Amino acid sequence: MTKGIFLGLITADIVYYVPHHPYNNQKLKAERQQSFAGGPATNAAVTFAAFGNRAALITGLGRHLLARIAKKDLAEHQVELIDSTDQPKRPPILSAIMVDLSNGERSIVSSNTDFRKLRPDAINASILEDADILLLDGYYLPQAIQMAEWARLRHIPVVLDGGSWKEGLETLLPFVDYAVCSNVFAAPGCNDSTSVIAYLKSMGIENIAITRDEAPIIAYCQGKTTEVPVMRIKAVDTLGAGDIFHGAFCHYILQNDFLVSLERAAEVASMSCTSLGTRSWIEQEKFI
Ligand SMILES: Nc1ncnc2c1ncn2[C@@H]1O[C@H](COP(=O)(O)OP(=O)(O)O)[C@@H](O)[C@H]1O
Ligand SMILES: [Mg+2]
Repeated sequence: MTKGIFLGLITADIVYYVPHHPYNNQKLKAERQQSFAGGPATNAAVTFAAFGNRAALITGLGRHLLARIAKKDLAEHQVELIDSTDQPKRPPILSAIMVDLSNGERSIVSSNTDFRKLRPDAINASILEDADILLLDGYYLPQAIQMAEWARLRHIPVVLDGGSWKEGLETLLPFVDYAVCSNVFAAPGCNDSTSVIAYLKSMGIENIAITRDEAPIIAYCQGKTTEVPVMRIKAVDTLGAGDIFHGAFCHYILQNDFLVSLERAAEVASMSCTSLGTRSWIEQEKFI
């Protein structure tokens, strides 16, 4: 069975579905609420596992009561948790999310990993022994860089989820095989997709994609830039679309070329936007 290693952020997401985003000083009633695990690497791992693959997630969660939201979700979705937080008693990173039901747009408030690190023994080369792919989301960068170096030595493909630019990321880039970035990934000195692609190319990355919500994906491979179409859907919740895209991409790239993998991952991600939350698309099983 195919195995993916996912290293990066986990959060406990509290999601409110609202008729519109609140005005200043407004008290707003949510139409619905949900809670589940979040974070780019986490959602990607859940997605990868949903295809019947093995997924292991290296992250920092801890054993605070609030961490149970995330822990239960991972267990329900067959993701193996390798929890290496250096502060097990502190609350997990909480993410407060509002989704505007009129258009599916989400806004998110959360802290990051600035005050939470992984223990020095969080990783070792043997974790990669039976792995087919490694996904990194730019969090826990020292460990991400070390894992990517080991993966390169073993010819295991490395996928970067470039959600946003993070300080120090330039050290990781030379070990990346596939950079799949969002539209807000602002690499140093870059202000549009052309300059981001040029920058990533200059770092030695040969397969690059930039996802842009409902707009076609910009893809660079084999020396050429093209567009990959995105399905037109009625979006009710775009939360985690990029993360789901990355998990599906990791699945498809093991059997397909780059452009086909992007196209299929986009179908899964777009389909996930038609239902509430980051998990209900899995039950629909339309993607199989
Ligand atoms: N409004 C939308 N309509 C259709 N598909 C969408 C929409 N928003 C996101 N997607 C799908 O999810 C993929 C990733 O979304 P994107 O918004 O670029 O990532 P992120 O979640 O990082 O902001 C897109 O390429 C597309 O396939
Ligand atoms: Mg988006």
